Amino acid sequence: MPDAMAQPLLDVRGLKKYFTVGRRGTLKAVNGVSFSIRSGETFGLVGESGCGKTTAGRVIVRLYEPTEGAVYYRGKDISRLARREAAEYTHNVQMIFQDPYASLDPRMTVEAIIAEGMRPRGMYSRGESRDKARELLSRVGLSPEHAQRFPHEFSGGQRQRVGVARALAVNPELIVCDEPVSALDVSIQAQIINLLRKLQRELGLTYLFIAHDLSLVKYVSDRVGVMYMGSLVEVASAEDLYRSPLHPYTRALLSAIPVPNPIEERGRRRVLLEGDVPPPLNTPDQCLFLGRCPHATDRCQQGMPQLAQAREGHWVACAMNEELNVDAYTI
Ligand SMILES: Nc1ncnc2c1ncn2[C@@H]1O[C@H](COP(=O)(O)OP(=O)(O)OP(=O)(O)O)[C@@H](O)[C@H]1O
Ligand SMILES: [Mg+2]
Repeated sequence: MPDAMAQPLLDVRGLKKYFTVGRRGTLKAVNGVSFSIRSGETFGLVGESGCGKTTAGRVIVRLYEPTEGAVYYRGKDISRLARREAAEYTHNVQMIFQDPYASLDPRMTVEAIIAEGMRPRGMYSRGESRDKARELLSRVGLSPEHAQRFPHEFSGGQRQRVGVARALAVNPELIVCDEPVSALDVSIQAQIINLLRKLQRELGLTYLFIAHDLSLVKYVSDRVGVMYMGSLVEVASAEDLYRSPLHPYTRALLSAIPVPNPIEERGRRRVLLEGDVPPPLNTPDQCLFLGRCPHATDRCQQGMPQLAQAREGHWVACAMNEELNVDAYTI
């Protein structure tokens, strides 16, 4: 997607990641996704379970090779980096995972977990990395005195703080936050979100924030991309997306979020999403939302719609694009 502003920090272009699933065929987990993230912004990626968010995140941190398309970081294709540049990239781009229980080694102290990432850089002596680990613990709101404790001695929220400290240990620029609070109690979620926001301000971090909860993404993101079965169906500023969503899928997702005002809430119409989302196996060349869309016409069977700019900075992939009129079907 062309970007009118300065060169983006991360530029994902036509990204595809397919998996071969037994003899059954090709699972198109990510199927032609393009978006860019500017330095210092938070880009939210939302969609139902299985739509390809984590897979996209894993390609971005180079855990997977793309099937097609490319990811550019500061203008360079991350699949074609020289060895030193690739090592640099793995420091610059970190990932925080959904499950703070599974992602921390239970046999290591939190100090060792945090210091581990620092080692390949060879920048710190043992004493220095210990000091830095303790400094990071207090930066993420934990007591440096707990440095010798093991992950099981911490609560879920505290473990996620350790995960954040570990990601910060290599001074990253971009962090892929893959549903960082979905495994946590609602009461703890806001604390972790506030921590991430504070760190962003203090350290100038850029985030790719993955979630399936649109209300959460609205709160943290500057811009949002909505994914459906491997494709982006809408990209816009958070404000624009929530005020005037264009894609019928986004409208349905938004209508499922209750609003705090009970009078307004009573008058709202829910757009129900009917049917399950099948895994994107051997998918036909047509709009994949077709079967669940209340506005589908014959045109929706004629190829997969591509993202097109409907308004300044607001992109939508829908064959009914021209007819999509904000006032025509308010939710
Ligand atoms: N290594 C793999 N091999 C085969 N299929 C995979 C693999 N990883 C993911 N998939 C499939 O790709 C699709 C997208 O999965 P992905 O984990 O990216 O979705 P997601 O949007 O992160 O979902 P969730 O919200 O549940 O985390 C799913 O159908 C999933 O089963
Ligand atoms: Mg996921």
